[in-house]
Amino acid sequence: MDLTFLLNGESVQLSDISPTTTLLDWLRETRGLKGTKEGCNEGDCGACTVMVRDADGARSLNACILFLPQLQGKSVTTVEGLAAPDGTLHPVQKAMVELDGSQCGFCTPGFVMSMATAHTNGDTNFDDALAGNLCRCTGYAPIVRAAEAASLEPVPDWVGPPTFSLPKISSGGTGSAGRGADSPPLWFAPESLDQLAWTYADHPDATLVAGATDVGLWVTKQMRELGTVIFLNRVGDMAWIDVTDDALNIGAGVTMDRVHALMAEHYPSYAELIRRYGSTQVRNAATIGGNIANGSPIGDNPPALIALGATLHLRHGDSQRDLPIEEFFVDYGKQDRFPGEFVEAVSIPLGQDRLGCYKLSKRFDQDISAVCGCFNITVEDDTVTEARIAFGGMAGIPKRAARVEEILTGQPWTADTIALAWDAWEQDFTPMSDMRASADYRLNAARNLLIRYFLDDIGAQTNVLEVQP
Ligand SMILES: Cc1cc2nc3c(=O)[nH]c(=O)nc-3n(C[C@H](O)[C@H](O)[C@H](O)COP(=O)(O)OP(=O)(O)OC[C@H]3O[C@@H](n4cnc5c(N)ncnc54)[C@H](O)[C@@H]3O)c2cc1C
Ligand code: FES
Ligand code: FES
Repeated sequence: MDLTFLLNGESVQLSDISPTTTLLDWLRETRGLKGTKEGCNEGDCGACTVMVRDADGARSLNACILFLPQLQGKSVTTVEGLAAPDGTLHPVQKAMVELDGSQCGFCTPGFVMSMATAHTNGDTNFDDALAGNLCRCTGYAPIVRAAEAASLEPVPDWVGPPTFSLPKISSGGTGSAGRGADSPPLWFAPESLDQLAWTYADHPDATLVAGATDVGLWVTKQMRELGTVIFLNRVGDMAWIDVTDDALNIGAGVTMDRVHALMAEHYPSYAELIRRYGSTQVRNAATIGGNIANGSPIGDNPPALIALGATLHLRHGDSQRDLPIEEFFVDYGKQDRFPGEFVEAVSIPLGQDRLGCYKLSKRFDQDISAVCGCFNITVEDDTVTEARIAFGGMAGIPKRAARVEEILTGQPWTADTIALAWDAWEQDFTPMSDMRASADYRLNAARNLLIRYFLDDIGAQTNVLEVQP
């Protein structure tokens, strides 16, 4: 299958590509565009940041974990393409020069591309926009000063408006596969849920790739051969959000930045959790479906979704089934999913917002949870009528604190009731020690988070050391 996209304004057409070629490798090794740097090669440092635009606007993405087929029909701008054709610097480039935003310069192209994307989108929350870019020598103050200065300048006309629309580009067919002369692996890019369902049913051993923020690392770090690949990024009818009176329905292909915006309206504590999920570049790529389907015990969505009583919608061929999301996680590395079956959507009940989410990690930004606890405790007439408590990082799967919930339910909503549940935590969880936290830390943190939720709920002053942006 041919692949067509714009690179720095010029149309590129590729045939017979390996589906797991990353944009970073292709830029540097095939196109000689070495401004996009390779630092970590795993989405952490932002040295490889590029701006990707389509009809939905501009996004910063990490080129090191972005496979070429994910770019079909999009417009990619690298640092080489940011200045005007006559060499006039983009406002962020100019500000970085004038305000000493660079020393060794290794991180600078990545910073500039994150800043240029924020500038294009009118985004002035620079702490969030730059949390995925690592600088080891300049320090962030001059860089943020440069971003602030640039934000006073208009978006240059050569960058185009954020609602950039591409010229009509041939998609190379729908749901088609690629087989090159030197036989690169088979890959598919279905354009509808039906095409995806049939293709996956026919190729149940294929690897599904959504945002590639997990799968990208299998390739760049574990050097895995993926075999047949099915890309989900063109399945438009899997990337919808539907809000009804009683539910938020979210397609599996919805990216975490969109989930963040949705939750900010409906469940602000969940939104705050997502704000600390990876970085802007990661949230722009990662999908809610990928975060659920990977079954990670430390993924940030599952505890919140379990606490909210979400329902997962799965599809295989023409058949669909629903299950409470906690039942999806069977055991470490094992989910209730048949070969050829995929996550289609998730539905979250809407009601009184009692959700409190707490993420404990070594860094505020861009870090995986050591413990992630989400509480949804309903209290009527000062009595607990329902308790849903779910944790990540406490077991081999995201898991409910069933015994603690049982002890709380029917009791007065008081500190004494919480104390009653003290020993129950050990019946619910036997956490492990690893490089993120010890078993003791995890267990005590979980206990204390319930106290924190209670104090937050009754509006008591908490004496908590928490990094605030
Ligand atoms: C730098 C960095 C920081 C990160 N920080 C966090 C963090 O703070 N919190 C957190 O929870 N995660 C974090 N992650 C992990 C990652 O972002 C998530 O797990 C992500 O949500 C996966 O989604 P994706 O769309 O990128 O999935 P992919 O990588 O494309 O796929 C992940 C897995 O899910 C499968 N899959 C994808 N979509 C479907 C579907 N619809 N149906 C069935 N299977 C499917 C794939 O085959 C694969 O097995 C981080 C990752 C990186 C690289
Ligand atoms: S090289 Fe570090 S994020 Fe891509
Ligand atoms: S300028 Fe050296 S790493 Fe940022």
